[in-house]
Amino acid sequence: MRRNIVAGNWKMNKNFSEADDLICAIQDELANVDVCDVDVIVCPPYPYLELVTDASEDSDFYVGAQNVAHFDDGAYTGEVSASMLSAMDVDYCIVGHSERRKYFHETNKDIAEKINRLIARDITPIMCVGESLEERENGNHFDVIRKQVEEGIFHLSAEDMQRCVIAYEPIWAIGTGKTASKEQAQEIHAFIRNLIVEKYSDDVAQEVSILYGGSCNPKNAKDLFSMQDIDGGLIGGASLKAEDFIQIVKSF
Ligand code: PGA
Repeated sequence: MRRNIVAGNWKMNKNFSEADDLICAIQDELANVDVCDVDVIVCPPYPYLELVTDASEDSDFYVGAQNVAHFDDGAYTGEVSASMLSAMDVDYCIVGHSERRKYFHETNKDIAEKINRLIARDITPIMCVGESLEERENGNHFDVIRKQVEEGIFHLSAEDMQRCVIAYEPIWAIGTGKTASKEQAQEIHAFIRNLIVEKYSDDVAQEVSILYGGSCNPKNAKDLFSMQDIDGGLIGGASLKAEDFIQIVKSF
């Protein structure tokens, strides 16, 4: 069954004491929320993972990393492997975020390798896809997303595919305050779900949660989450304030 999910991507924000304050505030806010119908995920920077996994032990949320190496282990200075994340009790990991594709030149092939390593360690990948403004204006957005999905994740078996989450994040909506309309988002979510139906089956497609990301906030979350194929959100800026983040969690 596809799950409702709200995942907070802190990106490279907060010093240690701010991160501590934020996770404590999230714990406090979550204590008053019924989260039976939604999985809450917090994705801090690597140095705060232990802080957040410790906090998750007495609270109803999961922990995600923001990236993983596409190698197993060895001489890869600065990288963090899936086995290291698994040893830290990380449940999810974002892969293929557009910021990583842009600034760190990640390719669909790298992303596929990362997904393999996460699956091998029982960590759920949250694979991000999305088009640039130029690609949308040229009418290429469907092709771009199809290629990202096919090359990034469609090598998986049906069984493994069902363990993945996909996030549609139009690049023009990330951190810009310019959200995709609920109709624009629904159109792409339905397109992605249909790709999964065609490649695997309807049953598999009904297991994969597809999240929307890009200026999702407490004001627009309810509308977006009401759409048929939108199973939740990957939240950047609004996840840095506990109150806003939990307001989004309560939007289902
Ligand atoms: P935003 O970021 O909510 O700040 O637009 C979303 C993301 O990049 O995951």
